[in-house]
Amino acid sequence: MHVLIGVSAGIAAYKIPLLIRLLIKQGHSVKVILTPDAVDFVSPLVLSTLSKQPVAIEFWNRKTGEWHNHVSYAEWADVLLVAPCTANTLAKMAQGLCDNFLLATFLSMRKRTIVAPAMDLEMYQHPSVKRNLMTLEKDGVMVIPPDHGELASGMVGEGRLPEPEILAERLNLHLGCAHKLIGCKALVTAGPTYESIDAVRFVGNRSSGKMGFAIAEALASQGAEVILLAGPTHLNSSHPSIRTISIESAQDLLTAVQQYWPNSDIGIFAAAVADYRPSEPSSQKIKKNQAQLSLELTRTEDTLAWAGKGKQAHQFLVGFALETSNGESYAREKLVKKNLDAVVLNVLGEKGVGFNSDTNKIRIFGCDGQDCDYPLESKVEIAKRIVDYIIQNK
Ligand code: CTP
Repeated sequence: MHVLIGVSAGIAAYKIPLLIRLLIKQGHSVKVILTPDAVDFVSPLVLSTLSKQPVAIEFWNRKTGEWHNHVSYAEWADVLLVAPCTANTLAKMAQGLCDNFLLATFLSMRKRTIVAPAMDLEMYQHPSVKRNLMTLEKDGVMVIPPDHGELASGMVGEGRLPEPEILAERLNLHLGCAHKLIGCKALVTAGPTYESIDAVRFVGNRSSGKMGFAIAEALASQGAEVILLAGPTHLNSSHPSIRTISIESAQDLLTAVQQYWPNSDIGIFAAAVADYRPSEPSSQKIKKNQAQLSLELTRTEDTLAWAGKGKQAHQFLVGFALETSNGESYAREKLVKKNLDAVVLNVLGEKGVGFNSDTNKIRIFGCDGQDCDYPLESKVEIAKRIVDYIIQNK
């Protein structure tokens, strides 16, 4: 789609470069118009570099003599998104004023216009702003409402421009694009587990949780409602469709999966779950009064295998495999043994692959015997590939 972004002079304009990157990654073409004062808030050079298009500010540039035609901008656009839309631009749009290039383009738009107002709490609640918004809505303009949160003034309330990911998602929702998992419930496991040795010590592993969190985001940006069961990690997710539930041990994870898996449509189990736990954790801190200390370990229950055993016809279950040798044969064996629909094999031995890395290299083995090999990419991109694979195969 051709997305024309109109940026007016609000502090939240700093979010627009990231929005442009996201939209281009999603396959949209983007052009940008700035109001003359918006150049104080975001650099035209940055916007032009990211959109790979000249940025229009005025009808004509006195220095270069370059001329922009508002009618051809409006004809090019499938949608005009005014974000951030200040109280001033909002009022002018509602009144049909036309004293800058953005407003002239708005009046020339034949397809839809969406405004994302962003301003301080008191301004957003002012009756004139509410009235202008209602006028625009009556005129067929759609509104992406501001989020509640901390504002540039330090006040807390409604008025914040949503984060770029959320803006992109709401824009796509208005455009009827993407969102292939609307109505779908997904369960994701992420991060390590900690198994208590005593009151202060545990057995754990080096998993960062990055892969599982990226998968949860990728599912949510396709419209899924996600429950993310996260082992101890410093990560968090602010996506409104992701509910994060913290777990600590393999037993906590099993209990949570037993609660949520029966009502899920998709399961992606990316957690690095302990296969063994100390048989008798001490409730007191163990003192160092012995020369040697042996720790007896007991097998934990395999949560993924439990989910596979009870899998229903509508459910699609994906497990991960991390192998140091014979990756393909172990991955295929896990697929059958745990009754999975696909196994994601982390391909070890390459630079940039591993627990704490931001990149990963995977192969996906499907239950149809086929497999897909992917290049080394960021975990965010890999997560999208896994979600696309599920959309195509479920
Ligand atoms: N898994 C799980 N619960 C466990 C152990 C593993 O849910 N107690 C899941 C992981 O989240 C991952 C998959 O099982 O999706 C693969 O785990 P892995 O430890 O690689 O394989 P195992 O089947 O445990 O086999 P092995 O350790 O012998 O390689």
